[in-house]
Amino acid sequence: MSSDLTVIVLAAGGGTRMKSQTAKVLHQIAGRSMIDHVLTAVRALDPHQVVAVVGHQREQVGPHIQALMPEVTLAVQDEQRGTGHAVRVAVEAAGTTSGTVLVAAGDTPLLRGESLRDFAQEHEAAQCAVSVLSGVVDEPFGYGRIVRNHEGDVEAIVEEKDANAEQRGIREISSGILAFDAEFLIEALPRLGNDNAKGEYYLTDTVGLARDAGLTVGAFPIDDWRQTEGANDRVQLAELGRELNRRIVEQWMRDGVTVMDPATTWVDADVTLAPDVILLPGTQLLGATTVAEDAVVGPDTTLKDCEIGAGARVVRAHGELAVIGAGAVVGPFSYMRPGTELGPGGKIGAFVETKNSRIGDGAKVPHLSYVGDADVGAGSNLGAGTITANYDGFNKNRTTIGRDVRIGVDTMLIAPVEVGDSAYTGAGAVIKDDVPEGALAVSENAQRNIDGYAADKAAKMREEQDT
Ligand code: UD1
Ligand code: CA
Repeated sequence: MSSDLTVIVLAAGGGTRMKSQTAKVLHQIAGRSMIDHVLTAVRALDPHQVVAVVGHQREQVGPHIQALMPEVTLAVQDEQRGTGHAVRVAVEAAGTTSGTVLVAAGDTPLLRGESLRDFAQEHEAAQCAVSVLSGVVDEPFGYGRIVRNHEGDVEAIVEEKDANAEQRGIREISSGILAFDAEFLIEALPRLGNDNAKGEYYLTDTVGLARDAGLTVGAFPIDDWRQTEGANDRVQLAELGRELNRRIVEQWMRDGVTVMDPATTWVDADVTLAPDVILLPGTQLLGATTVAEDAVVGPDTTLKDCEIGAGARVVRAHGELAVIGAGAVVGPFSYMRPGTELGPGGKIGAFVETKNSRIGDGAKVPHLSYVGDADVGAGSNLGAGTITANYDGFNKNRTTIGRDVRIGVDTMLIAPVEVGDSAYTGAGAVIKDDVPEGALAVSENAQRNIDGYAADKAAKMREEQDT
């Protein structure tokens, strides 16, 4: 492929059918915006230059694109006068003069870099002035039709609204992805007219111009048409989201991951899974989550930006920015908030919430606890109902628990507080002061039994009813 490749991504359109405050190309599937998926495909071509055309909601779209691809050139199209006009704006902004120019849209999230590369290579090998990535579909409605002559050469692309009845019957359609010889493109763009059904400057009219000039025009069909499909409303967004997820999950299965129920398993594009991971139904792995070999996740678990160690087991849990060590056990019904780090062989059990805490190797928080802003040493055990009272009404304070500590059930640790190695706390203790290494801390009040209380109470209630 030519080393002199310019890619133009069109993203100026309004996206009115989304009915959203968020620009169309910023809507997400598989954890990335639509335009992020397109730019990822574009990046695989290693282009000399990338130009993004922005217009509608450009105060959102522009910075988003720049954050994803700092080297991008942004071209502003103030008024959306058609794809031909958009490309003209882009070419002027980029100062493109030679090589190959590839034009794609920003709303086709299933697009793959390999497909763009194959298309650009076909275009260059056939020495075309202009080429279109086409597709043969059952329902061509709405798309530009590829009109071929008797020899099969491409004559024109005719838009839906401009097509006659015969042309509407053509099932080969334009994906909207086109490739150009830059010199031809620069010469053709000012010659495009807008005397058509939409009153727009159609980029696709360059095909007719090339034909008239006796230049070579190519139409190269893609087998996997869905890669070129755009999402114009939220119904299509969900459909493409489901299809992309199906593809991602299928690829992980081919790479050695067991997925019991692909239909209820959602894996974002940036997730990494090792061979022999097992995903049970209802699992969502989001963001940059990684799962190491032999770990079992699910059922009914959502993990965002988490790191799960080899052989760990995570059952019915919700986690974000948590790191779970090898062989550790989590769940069921555990809530791991950002900054949770569970060491190898450790446990975060049922109805336990953790936040910004390091729980050491083999340490366990088995039941009904809140552990926030705490350090728990290796081998320690926190009894049922342990609470770190980390907030004093003004500041968040840390609780530090040493190694091999035994915290009794229902202990309240009023931070800042430190419990030394191998220390104990009694059931129901309220720990406000540091506990020395090896000590037992108790703080309960003496118990008093009031005999006959139930009968006295019943009598009192009868009396009140009578008066
Ligand atoms: C376009 C093609 C059509 C093709 C279809 C595939 C033209 C004239 N038609 O039609 O042959 O079958 O895509 O989906 O090219 N845009 C701008 N500025 C503009 C106009 C559009 O940036 O002034 C962007 C839009 O945001 C969108 C893309 O270009 O991402 C395509 O524009 P759209 O108006 O949706 O074209 P279609 O009618 O779908
Ligand atoms: Ca469109």
